[in-house]
Amino acid sequence: MLKIIITGGAGFIGSHLARRLMLENHEVLIVDSLHPYYSIERKRQQLSTIDLLRNDQFFSLDLLNREETISLFQSISPDAVIHLAALPGVAYSIERPLEYVDYDIKATINVLEACGQSNASQIIFASSSSVYGNQEGPLKEEMANGNVISPYAASKYSAESFCHVYRHLYGFETKVLRFFTVYGPWVRPDMAIGIFLKRLLKNQEIILFGEDRVRDFTFIDDIVDGIYLSLTQLHTSEVINIGSGKPISMLFLLDEFKKYFPEIKIRKEKSRTGDVLQTWADIRKARDLFGYWPKISFERGLAETVKWARENEAFL
Ligand SMILES: NC(=O)c1ccc[n+]([C@@H]2O[C@H](COP(=O)([O-])OP(=O)(O)OC[C@H]3O[C@@H](n4cnc5c(N)ncnc54)[C@H](O)[C@@H]3O)[C@@H](O)[C@H]2O)c1
Repeated sequence: MLKIIITGGAGFIGSHLARRLMLENHEVLIVDSLHPYYSIERKRQQLSTIDLLRNDQFFSLDLLNREETISLFQSISPDAVIHLAALPGVAYSIERPLEYVDYDIKATINVLEACGQSNASQIIFASSSSVYGNQEGPLKEEMANGNVISPYAASKYSAESFCHVYRHLYGFETKVLRFFTVYGPWVRPDMAIGIFLKRLLKNQEIILFGEDRVRDFTFIDDIVDGIYLSLTQLHTSEVINIGSGKPISMLFLLDEFKKYFPEIKIRKEKSRTGDVLQTWADIRKARDLFGYWPKISFERGLAETVKWARENEAFL
């Protein structure tokens, strides 16, 4: 059994991950500030889906507070830290780049320092497919070169570098996982699938930015599987893609939605700045290193997501 801190554990990915880790009998401690990037009520609801979580396993703290972060981590003395807390979202990062320097870089440095000072033996860092910039796939890990197109991606790329620095300073294992467009129940409300579902359930028109865009949509359970396997089966520091390996075009996505919402109305707009044209993960490194392979087809994943959305419309 491992003692694990999950930063950002009230978020979309973090709440699913916490449930899984607790079911596998690990001790989970969540640190989250309930940042208002999207509804705090929704984050509380996500927390409440972690049935086994007790109140004393949740710590409300902004990781930008360096001293408190270090002292909390020292008092917990975790075996592993899974650092998911960040300001996500490409579009917002173009409006507010400096916030990403704070939440995605500075907070990560604090977490890395806290890992070192609390003798954690490993940290898993949530990076993103956006670090590949506008390159054609399949995207292999060594293809990221810093030539990115949004402040969000620049912050993630920089935070990855700090992970390497602190591995050298403290000697813990760093596992940098690059997630590819995650969806599923509780999908983030600012992501395409989340926005579309909200509008479809109200029978409103969907605005499609860039019909030629392609995304490697990855179901949440597969992402959680990838994190879990890297936590328990990988014993070296690595940078690894966690995706589905199957790129889906936005037009295909809308065709799938038509099965559930035949009356769908679509308005097409051109792509937004900062959005890469396509993502397509090469996932062979994760397969070879720790046996990761996605299990959920896009059709099945979308069916589960639509079902969840119908039952939870109030939270969309
Ligand atoms: N969802 C995706 O498709 C996707 C893709 C690639 C990478 N990622 C990365 O995975 C991680 C989790 O993403 P998510 O979709 O679950 O996002 P999310 O916004 O649902 O979760 C992030 C959580 O971090 C918390 N947080 C933010 N700043 C904090 C701070 N300074 N101190 C304490 N808590 C803080 C927020 O309150 C939130 O609950 C992020 O790092 C994100 O960049 C997500």
